[in-house]
Amino acid sequence: MSRIEKAMERAVQLRQGTDAPAAVHPEVKEPERPIHAPPPVQAGTQIVVPSSPYFDNISDPYSPIGEEFRKLKAALVSLTTGAQFNNSVMVTSSVQNEGKSIISLNLAMCLAQEYDHTVLLIDADFRRPTIHSYLGIANRQGFSDCLLGEAEIADVIIPTGIGRLSVITAGRAVPNPVELFASKKTETLIAEIKNRYHDRYIMFDTPPVLLFAESRTLGRLVDGVLYVVKEQNASQHNIKEGIDTLKGCKLLGMIYNDTIVDRHDQKYSSYQRYKRTQ
Ligand SMILES: Nc1ncnc2c1ncn2[C@@H]1O[C@H](COP(=O)(O)OP(=O)(O)OP(=O)(O)O)[C@@H](O)[C@H]1O
Ligand SMILES: [Mg+2]
Repeated sequence: MSRIEKAMERAVQLRQGTDAPAAVHPEVKEPERPIHAPPPVQAGTQIVVPSSPYFDNISDPYSPIGEEFRKLKAALVSLTTGAQFNNSVMVTSSVQNEGKSIISLNLAMCLAQEYDHTVLLIDADFRRPTIHSYLGIANRQGFSDCLLGEAEIADVIIPTGIGRLSVITAGRAVPNPVELFASKKTETLIAEIKNRYHDRYIMFDTPPVLLFAESRTLGRLVDGVLYVVKEQNASQHNIKEGIDTLKGCKLLGMIYNDTIVDRHDQKYSSYQRYKRTQ
């Protein structure tokens, strides 16, 4: 049999499926990935279980809070992806106790539980660092040690086993965070982190802008700022003044936190009904 005949015979076999290679049959669809299924945890990673009730609902597909974070995540993804991936985001507010740390961590967890996103959350609040305590982990060497040149970024990254989330805790207390953040070394280090981890989100939890100047400096080094406003906390004047301090920063949007939810709101009651019929 000539080579051409052999090739034709093989083509017929393949068409008839008598000698088909192990290819995907067009009618057989790949199994669908369940919604909200987190990516697999890397072997050997100790899974961190947040030690605060503010993080309980995030992966519950029927929780209204989880749903709000998933909407927030979708908005963030659309604001930061496009022609290029603007991967560094800072979370701040006008004054204290607006919910920056809770929101940073919930949003980071929510993003990291998707297959597509890897997240590095950095506690850049050297005044009142809380990411480690919300996660129930130790704050040994961290971001401040890297800025001081006493640790390498790669050595202080802690994988959490919560999807693809890693964190860097704040590190040791520093006497003057304003000066530290304003240094050339910090600018270089932030640029290096953004480049080295260019395929993942880098989120910074920071102190409030009206009280501490370092957040304004960091705001100019990152690609975007998320501004948290908690209901009945900062005054309108505070909010306006706080936003004014961020001139030269890219304000991605505001997150209105701890709002009084109308229990008769259709949107929320429908979630309840949905849950009960499952
Ligand atoms: N959505 C919320 N619902 C109920 N309580 C909230 C909410 N967000 C924040 N809080 C309350 O505010 C406190 C402070 O939250 P968080 O630590 O996230 O604030 P912060 O803005 O990071 O504060 P700081 O300025 O000290 O860093 C929480 O311990 C909690 O009591
Ligand atoms: Mg905080």
